Amino acid sequence: MILHSSLRTICSLGLFALCTPAFAQKTSAPNLESRVEAQLAKMTLEEKIGQLNQVPGDISTGTDVGNDDLLAKIRASQIGSVLSHTNFQKKIMMQRVAMNETRLGIPLVFGFDVIHGYKTIFPIPLAQAASWDMGLIERIERIAAEEASADGQHWTFAPMVDVSRDPRWGRVMEGAGEDPFLGSRVAEARIRGFQGTDLAAANTIAACTKHFAGYGFVEAGREYNTVDMSPQRLREFVLPPFKAAADAGSASFMNAFNVLNGVPASMDKNLITNILRTEWKWEGLMVSDWNSFGETIVHGAAEDDLDASAKCLTAGSDMDMAGGTFQRGLKSALEAGRVTQAQIDEAVRRVLRFKFSLGLFDDPNKYLNQQRRDETLERPEFRAVAREAAAKSMVLLKNDGGLLPITEGSRFKKIAIIGPYADSKSNKDYMSFWTLGLGMREYDSTKVVRPAQALKPALEEMGFEVTVTEICLDANCFEKDYSVAIDAARAADMVIMCLGERGINCGESRSVTSLELPYDQNRIASVLGRLSKPTVMVLFNSRPLVFDWARENIPAILVAWQPGFETGNALADVLTGKVNPSGKLPLTFPRSLGQVPIYYNHLNTGRPQEQQGQVWTSGYLDSPVEPAYPFGFGLSYTTFSYSGIKLAKSRYKMTETVEAIVTITNTGRVAGEEVVQCYIRDLSADIARPVKELKGFEKIKLAPGESRELTFRLSEKDLGYWNNELVWKMDPGKFQVFLGGDSKNLKVGAFEMVR
Ligand code: BGC
Repeated sequence: MILHSSLRTICSLGLFALCTPAFAQKTSAPNLESRVEAQLAKMTLEEKIGQLNQVPGDISTGTDVGNDDLLAKIRASQIGSVLSHTNFQKKIMMQRVAMNETRLGIPLVFGFDVIHGYKTIFPIPLAQAASWDMGLIERIERIAAEEASADGQHWTFAPMVDVSRDPRWGRVMEGAGEDPFLGSRVAEARIRGFQGTDLAAANTIAACTKHFAGYGFVEAGREYNTVDMSPQRLREFVLPPFKAAADAGSASFMNAFNVLNGVPASMDKNLITNILRTEWKWEGLMVSDWNSFGETIVHGAAEDDLDASAKCLTAGSDMDMAGGTFQRGLKSALEAGRVTQAQIDEAVRRVLRFKFSLGLFDDPNKYLNQQRRDETLERPEFRAVAREAAAKSMVLLKNDGGLLPITEGSRFKKIAIIGPYADSKSNKDYMSFWTLGLGMREYDSTKVVRPAQALKPALEEMGFEVTVTEICLDANCFEKDYSVAIDAARAADMVIMCLGERGINCGESRSVTSLELPYDQNRIASVLGRLSKPTVMVLFNSRPLVFDWARENIPAILVAWQPGFETGNALADVLTGKVNPSGKLPLTFPRSLGQVPIYYNHLNTGRPQEQQGQVWTSGYLDSPVEPAYPFGFGLSYTTFSYSGIKLAKSRYKMTETVEAIVTITNTGRVAGEEVVQCYIRDLSADIARPVKELKGFEKIKLAPGESRELTFRLSEKDLGYWNNELVWKMDPGKFQVFLGGDSKNLKVGAFEMVR
């Protein structure tokens, strides 16, 4: 805090060369700090409070230019930002009013949830994480930023970096899964993609890292629920991706809806001011979640708008999204002495700095160029990346007898593609809540290449006879379709079942209490599966699902997630072997809901845990402890072998770097990509440590017979940990290092760290 305010003083004295707030380093906007101060000096209290007010646009509430007083409020300098507005011409109009018809001409900043693409829709973020391909993820977000910025959006509310272990929570689809290390790398890649190297460039947008913090751990997976966890666990599992995002220069952060350890996150001073701003030295803009300042009153942690405003601003939050709480309460909070003018100024400074960084003061219409819009949205080459991304995200869970890929000259002649998601023309499928539902987006289903639409011609071209049989999930037609589907399967030599979840059921406020394939689809799987045809189950899902019978009995299972616009093409690429699957699970798949939360980086109990049905062990009477599929798991059409781990020595000084070397060989007949994963275990720390912690990974491509040697380096930042007094430390003693292709099948090496 001392550093922070002295930096401010230096800045206000005009020694600007010394002032480089973390995110502003990435903008070419000139003389940032002096211009912020000059602007601030001109503003009245009302204008300042207006800058802290963000209001929703057309898609969420119907609030719009023309049908309410939005323009009047902009004219009155009561609005600093508009979110979720889709109409390009109206954005031009609003910006014109802000620039020309207000006293100071401060530009508006437009925010939007660009979650898995803007106009070109990519696989959901959880799927992207399953690619473990950071270069690909960065390219996706670069395209998303190209499109969003060309359509007048300046700011995305992404990446969501909430680590979660609970598939009941609908928003697992929006994150990178259960692991803080993988989550950190994904967060950095996404921020690099959105923000590029210069925030002021017309084709970049500001990132907003969310939701700070703990939201992924809502009790019972119930949306918006309470979160309670030890500060040590918070440091270890929740905060790392946020820290990585802050270090990567995320221009903004968003509060979380939840109460964390008793405090609503929007008014959590420890989180926002002590950890994020002071300890991590992050100087960006903190925006609330949708009315989360107002919800502090509902939580029973603030009395009224005045109290909520005072508590949220004092905690370090800056901008009020959609709640109007600051509009109603901040001035009275100042008059009542609950906040100071300096505190309000500090929040306004951050908003102004944000707008300057985006280059909005230099050219408020930079992002509102009709010609660029026409030339940019949905360019064909963006589709090519969407196809690549969808294929690389898919995870092959099972492939008994090498049933896949389907190749020419196969002994099968007739293939039946069956299921509710074989050819769904509904605009509720293959994408997510963020791109579908609630009348929120203008997408129509014709933009999606459906599975059968691409797979059927691809297979026919290879000489197969293909039938497509849809199964309607509506209770009225289910029984009829179901018997038609059985007939179709009987008539075929091979069956491809397309099952899963509706895209509309993925995302915010889509929590569930069952992980079984919804709408009785486990029954479809078992009835078709019992026909004993060679059968492939393709899942379109947004979370780990439970399909116990299919897991045991269906020979091939492919997790396709919600793949976006290029669903069918990507599926055809993978099923026909044009693309060799290389995705790995970013989230453990449980055998049953009863195992949740289940995650790979757990602590050991003091008891054996493998013996099902035995008392005095740490297990279940009715189920194994092991998950259905572990974190990091995914098969390929080829096989890889791992050599033993080579370590230069067995004892290292605590200041030294450990190098673990492994050789991976493609032992199969086709080229393939492998995600080589590096885990550690600290066996003798002063507190109990997880049985495994991911500390590195590399995705490599190997031709048949080719070998590659990889070296993973481990130093104090990998081997240390937060203890229960919240001190980062590393203890001498025994460690293990594990290298392999998933979190279970690993080669192991041992070393010791000594003083
Ligand atoms: C969500 C945020 C989102 C915001 C704006 C909220 O309900 O929690 O993640 O960015 O709405 O759409």
